[in-house]
Amino acid sequence: MQALVYDPDQPAGLRLAEAAEPVLAPDQALVEVRAISLNFGELAYRTGRAQPGQVHGWDAAGVVVAATEDGSGPATGTPVVTFGWTVPGRAAAPCPRRRWRRGAGLGRLGATEIVIGLADVTGSVYGVLDNVGGQQLADAFSLLERGGVALSIGKASGQPTTIDLERERHRSSGQRIEPFAMGSGLAEDLGYLVRLLDQGQLDPQIGWRGSWERAPEAAEALLSRRVAGKAVLDLPA
Ligand SMILES: NC(=O)c1ccc[n+]([C@@H]2O[C@H](COP(=O)([O-])OP(=O)(O)OC[C@H]3O[C@@H](n4cnc5c(N)ncnc54)[C@H](OP(=O)(O)O)[C@@H]3O)[C@@H](O)[C@H]2O)c1
Repeated sequence: MQALVYDPDQPAGLRLAEAAEPVLAPDQALVEVRAISLNFGELAYRTGRAQPGQVHGWDAAGVVVAATEDGSGPATGTPVVTFGWTVPGRAAAPCPRRRWRRGAGLGRLGATEIVIGLADVTGSVYGVLDNVGGQQLADAFSLLERGGVALSIGKASGQPTTIDLERERHRSSGQRIEPFAMGSGLAEDLGYLVRLLDQGQLDPQIGWRGSWERAPEAAEALLSRRVAGKAVLDLPA
């Protein structure tokens, strides 16, 4: 089969190539993929983790062409969206200090206050969801009020985080920090999102769309922070 594979010698580390046909476990279905999305995380951390030739990608949309042997999951012919792991690489792009453009439209979606950068946060906060890491996570953690929690979701900055736990002990107000990792068995959650899309209640914010032959171009745009939203690659019918 044709696949988008990791190749560290190619632009953005991606090329189209022949790959082995998948061998299915009894609880796995075969999906004919029609479109995939590129994610920052899967592109940014491949070095040392992904093997050259490894099939790239997490998100896919397509049609089940062989249902699971054990009867779990959707029937053959069902249109599906899927999520699965591969291994990510490359350093993240340098960070411009202010990104006001990214906040445009959040007010219309219901945000009551929009700040670009923690320097503009006035007062403490109860929760933090952080996908940037580095100093930003440490600074956000220090803004937590009593009993508040910070979830570390990702490290788009590529920088490690140092938190002064001694200082936090003296603050002594029960703030917590937890690493968040995507679990498995996401069918129910994905189904919920697809229903919202179908009802017009969710805008997937597609910022780039094109043929999967243009995957390196999409990856470069994503890693250099020029895509607002998802990058979607279409496969030939
Ligand atoms: N734990 C999990 O289950 C999970 C799930 C998904 C993703 N992640 C992780 O989350 C991180 C972001 O992935 P994503 O899919 O959310 O990416 P994304 O949608 O492309 O968002 C990346 C965010 O990070 C910011 N950013 C990028 N480079 C930066 C830098 N050098 N300094 C500061 N901010 C920077 C971007 O800001 P701009 O908008 O201004 O460019 C953007 O807001 C990755 O580390 C990924 O591995 C974790």
